[in-house]
Amino acid sequence: MCEDELIPPQADMTEQEWLHTGSATTAGEPSMPTTGRTVPFVNRRTLLGGAMAGAALAVLPSPGQSPASAAARRGAPGAFPFPEHPNGKGEFAILVTGDAGTGDEAQYAVAAAARDVCQAERVGLAVGLGDNIYENGPESDDDSEFQDKFEKPNSGIDVPWLMVLGNHDCSGLIPGSGGDPSRGDREVAYAATSRRWYMPSRYYSVPLPAADPLVEFFAIDTIPWSSYVAQIDPRYRWDGPYMREQRNWLDGALRASRARWKVVFGHHPYLNNGKHGSAGSYDGFEIGNYTSGVHLKDMYDSVVAGRADLILSGHDHTLQILEPTARTGGTRQVVCGASAKTEDGKAHFAHPAAWQNFSDHGFMVLKVSGARLTIEAYTVDVATRKATLAHRTRQTRPVSAPAPAHA
Ligand SMILES: [Fe+2]
Repeated sequence: MCEDELIPPQADMTEQEWLHTGSATTAGEPSMPTTGRTVPFVNRRTLLGGAMAGAALAVLPSPGQSPASAAARRGAPGAFPFPEHPNGKGEFAILVTGDAGTGDEAQYAVAAAARDVCQAERVGLAVGLGDNIYENGPESDDDSEFQDKFEKPNSGIDVPWLMVLGNHDCSGLIPGSGGDPSRGDREVAYAATSRRWYMPSRYYSVPLPAADPLVEFFAIDTIPWSSYVAQIDPRYRWDGPYMREQRNWLDGALRASRARWKVVFGHHPYLNNGKHGSAGSYDGFEIGNYTSGVHLKDMYDSVVAGRADLILSGHDHTLQILEPTARTGGTRQVVCGASAKTEDGKAHFAHPAAWQNFSDHGFMVLKVSGARLTIEAYTVDVATRKATLAHRTRQTRPVSAPAPAHA
């Protein structure tokens, strides 16, 4: 059973409530919070979560395990190169997919449709937004699932794929729990042997082009802050060294970036009109400092909002291009998690949206030039393996232009 089906949707927070809810710590406090919210109620789902946490004890990783190997950071021999110049249309075009790793016909159909669009749009880079290997992530660094659920369906989309970890990639006994983050190291290790799969470490950045970046991508690991169970390994606790290091890294990397456009991408969304809801209120329940994503919301509030142009996320198997708001500091949330699965066909929340779709499979293409950032959403008919351009959104002003080099 997939975790996504295990937890029923519940709209436990209206948009207004979410907008007026501060971070888990003192407003404006940039440091890692030291206390979490208490469990407000105990119901069937909380009890279920507690049972899951207990079961997770049986699949704990070894403490102190390194999140990435030095070999993986060097990349694979013969890896597809990053684009150094805009395509013939004067843009960098990037394919965006999410929650794709089922190995089912729908994944292959969406990938086939995307392959055609990538050729027409001269796509030079791709993004995979997590849940890359359902249901429990790979069993080893060279698990055959990497072939069946990534390489084979994406054959012909011969570009670097910027990959981030999803909750299913970091699960052990309980599919989708996110309770075993160390399993994500296998996906980092796999990058050392794949021409497509790019994951030099569990979080990283990619400037494009490298020499004088127009856009910079910041890949983050949202799992330990959003797991359905409590993290038992001290390294991956919500206030443990791993999450402190990642938060400090992202803060510094965004500050140091000279790119005109900045794109943060991780599996769990900041804002979300799908059934899982937004960070801080995921799925309507929480276990201590986990599950609801309260500390992820705090990180998005404090580190990302108003500093990145886009947050790209999956987790919900939907297509959403939400509107930037004053609450987000002008940062736009995009959810693109319908590359193998779909949802229940309806919005569960009402954050302002430029366009959203809760029924169809699909993917998106992000186009970046000095003048504009364009997001194109495609729906896919699985039976015919054909894509239809459903919506296009453009923005022309970066939320945070870099300071002049001489300042
Ligand atoms: Fe997910």
